[in-house]
Amino acid sequence: MPINNTEKQLTLNQDHLSSKYLQVLGSQGLSGHIRVSGAKNSALVLMAAALLADRSVCLSNVPLLADVEAMSKLLVSMGIELRRNKNQLEIITSSINLSPKDLSCEVFHSLRASFFCIGPLLARLGEVKIPLPGGCKIGTRPIDEHIQGLRALGARVEIENDYVVAKLISPQKRLTGAQIRFNCKSVGATETILMAATLAKGMTILENAAQEPEIQDLATMLNKMGAKIKGAGTSRITIEGVDRLNGCSYMVMPDRIEAGTFLIASAITRSPLTISPVIPEHLDTVILKLQECGCLIECSGDTLSIIPRKNLQAVDITTSPFPGFPTDLQAPFMALMATVKGTSKIEETVFENRMQHIGEFQRMGAKILLEGNTAYVIGDNNLKATSIAAGDLRSCAAMVLVSLAANGTSVVQGLEHLDRGYEDFAEKLNAVGANILRTYSVPLTNHE
Ligand code: EPZ
Repeated sequence: MPINNTEKQLTLNQDHLSSKYLQVLGSQGLSGHIRVSGAKNSALVLMAAALLADRSVCLSNVPLLADVEAMSKLLVSMGIELRRNKNQLEIITSSINLSPKDLSCEVFHSLRASFFCIGPLLARLGEVKIPLPGGCKIGTRPIDEHIQGLRALGARVEIENDYVVAKLISPQKRLTGAQIRFNCKSVGATETILMAATLAKGMTILENAAQEPEIQDLATMLNKMGAKIKGAGTSRITIEGVDRLNGCSYMVMPDRIEAGTFLIASAITRSPLTISPVIPEHLDTVILKLQECGCLIECSGDTLSIIPRKNLQAVDITTSPFPGFPTDLQAPFMALMATVKGTSKIEETVFENRMQHIGEFQRMGAKILLEGNTAYVIGDNNLKATSIAAGDLRSCAAMVLVSLAANGTSVVQGLEHLDRGYEDFAEKLNAVGANILRTYSVPLTNHE
């Protein structure tokens, strides 16, 4: 059912973020080029890292996202001055006035990355009281690795009511370098301890560190600010502490998860697309899996070209820390597997509760069996449009993708999740031929 222009005109006048639903017309072929924004999970930690400097940090290629807005509000609540001009963000941290009353709990609960401020604040101020980060739909999101690491660096860290209270013990009022081995590969814990260690006295060695590209982006910026970090991107990182860090200008790396989501959009609609800018080595595992199922993918500089065959085949994936298959693309990839011939085994090993999207896919006619954290997707289904609701960021993107492959017009609810992590997601897809309408009234879909 074509989306009528009145509705489109009405929606175009709506405030972008107040719209709550996406109306997605399925079976649309796509073609053209999609631009990739700056990486959400890098921008957020770089904003936290700016707290380490007593001069301004100027970030460029910052994506316009709800999570970046939330992090900005958090920094302002600490007395930080921010100057924003589209995708440029200047963070002036010459003065930080941190009184717990100002630290709004709900922002900390809603934004996991807010907790990454604890390392820089402790290193800079010597003590900090910060609200516990919330868990979310995908798991309990513990912080024991963050706490153990900060204690190893010489801080007293306790959980008091809904807060984490951290204070330097050493009389020199400075963290002390240490040898730290993480019990599990944690992106956030590696980032927290890496940032804190830059201002510690002496050498810190991190073993079993996470290797995600966002950690490399963070280390590159910190070294530009005067830090002495080696080995970021490997499981062993050394940090020689320095007395202070300068400001700098830094460009956020392209978002590998957004790029991977659009590669899957190409595959699920069987449409050729070009996507840039990307750093191809950030997507090796994803590219290999898409090639295995029948997509021709070529790389030229920072541009990926993807041409999917019409009859794609099922492949198995197991999510794991980088350089493994990213957990953040598990839901979008499952959407693809629901449309291809054969049975795909999808194992989620990073988060304990990241299969919530299965129920919604099943309502569209997908045949998926779940055993623990392993899903068996019996593909090649004739998916039918319906109204579906997402519970987290990446499952919302997956529901838009699966709606692109369904017959009819679907309604995807949960845009507050999508707007957290994808800049202009619907607009970018519409620019290559999709027909997605943001609306705030629950439109009828043709199955009702
Ligand atoms: C980051 O979360 C990302 N978020 C997540 O992206 C991403 O899915 C995740 O890394 C894994 O790649 C940001 O960077 C803001 P972890 P983080 O610590 O740091 C366990 C998205 O959609 N763990 O690497 O919170 C934990 O339970 C989001 O963009 C501990 O046991 O993830 C999980 O099983 C979702 N103790 C595993 O490690 C700890 O102290 C990986 O979590 C910390 C983590």
